[in-house]
Amino acid sequence: MKVDVLLGLQWGDEGKGKVVDVLTPRYDVVARFQGGPNAGHTLEFEGQKYVLRSIPSGIFQGDKVNIIGNGVVLDPALFKAEAEALEASGHPLKERLHISKKAHLILPTHRILDAAYEAAKGASKVGTTGKGIGPTYTDKISRNGLRVGDILNNFEAKYAAAKARHEQILNSLNYEYDITELEKQWMEGIEYLRQFNLVDSEHEINNLLKEGKSVLCEGAQGTMLDVDFGSYPFVTSSNTICAGACTGLGLGPNKIGEVYGIMKAYCTRVGSGPFPTELFDETGKKIRDLGHEYGAVTGRERRCGWVDLVALRYSIMINGVTQLILMKSDVLDGFETIKACVAYKVNGEEIDYFPYDINEGVEPVYVEMPGWKTDMTKMTSEDEFPEEFNAYISFLEEQLGTPIKIVSVGPDRAQTIERYTEE
Ligand code: GDP
Ligand code: IMO
Ligand code: MG
Repeated sequence: MKVDVLLGLQWGDEGKGKVVDVLTPRYDVVARFQGGPNAGHTLEFEGQKYVLRSIPSGIFQGDKVNIIGNGVVLDPALFKAEAEALEASGHPLKERLHISKKAHLILPTHRILDAAYEAAKGASKVGTTGKGIGPTYTDKISRNGLRVGDILNNFEAKYAAAKARHEQILNSLNYEYDITELEKQWMEGIEYLRQFNLVDSEHEINNLLKEGKSVLCEGAQGTMLDVDFGSYPFVTSSNTICAGACTGLGLGPNKIGEVYGIMKAYCTRVGSGPFPTELFDETGKKIRDLGHEYGAVTGRERRCGWVDLVALRYSIMINGVTQLILMKSDVLDGFETIKACVAYKVNGEEIDYFPYDINEGVEPVYVEMPGWKTDMTKMTSEDEFPEEFNAYISFLEEQLGTPIKIVSVGPDRAQTIERYTEE
């Protein structure tokens, strides 16, 4: 069996959680491969709304195995809060959730370091989620990290050494902090974590594939936040791209099958960094209000703008996307006209490729199309799509060279339309 990968093509929050939930019935296993509690994946069904951070979005469907892979960074305190809330709402997970022993632990001091580094950067701060993501991945790469498997053996000494190292750095930065409460909750999280299936997930996932089981990998963040290919340095600290599923789960590249690329019908970004199609006017505000574009976890205002096809073509190339999923089209239901960026102007010259640096001097070149001015939120089949929306879809497919197979017209699981039109 092959593994299918679902990931965001923009700056995150494309609607990955919703679509993983929609696709889960077709798979036996759902696995997260990178990121950590910087993610906020929203699911809505049967009148309930859930926001997942470290736990895969396949957790609501009883008979599925959910894996937190080695590429993920896990904060035991936040994990405990998330897992307990799910259990309290009637969704047991101890049996269905398997956690890689090779996943790295986010320490309380990683969170403090995240804040300290951001403070030191001043105006050029990344605008991180403050969850310790950067410092944890830094320790992983510099071979100083603690892993989930470490809690099974001589953990206190390993923790004390890591904490002492971090304290030295924090002192050198003259950063004042109080770790008491954070550390208390974190230690409780460690004890809680011991109740779970801590596994060698690379063996498990490959064995499941050998048995003919199907696997869906759930990306976090988005390609424009990838540490190698995103808008560096305003990125997260992991590989959010398809290749991240290989390293983050222990899968050979030849195991990858479909690559679902998720995009909004417009574009958003949270935190600092370049965003060529950002709108600072009433239209941007309208998109934010209609799309409820506020962080799923932090509540931070998301910056909004038109869809950027230059960036999307790049994302599709980097990930080897085989099919697109178009989200939040309903947010544009009332618009007279819709714009899409088809090229950039850099130093007066028009380019249609994603350049080395988009931090400065990139001006979007737009194509304008008529809006569909129809409420699509109750539609259940593509046969109901208004003509202008069909034209918008065809335009996107042509520009992106990739078919749009699913269209989402609202946050609920049920507001999802599969397209059967010939490619
Ligand atoms: P993720 O991080 O990619 O899982 O996305 P988030 O959950 O952070 O943000 C997506 C937001 O849009 C959530 O509030 C979803 O409930 C909502 N959403 C998802 N799909 C649609 C859609 O098609 N239409 C509308 N209006 N909202 C959607
Ligand atoms: P999901 O999975 C949107 C952004 C932060 C910041 C940058 C680095 O819900 O799509 P970090 O805390 O990772 O070091 O922050 O990345 N960011 C996200 N933006 N959606 C996310 O996740 C994000 N995770 C991180 O806002 O700009
Ligand atoms: Mg999100």
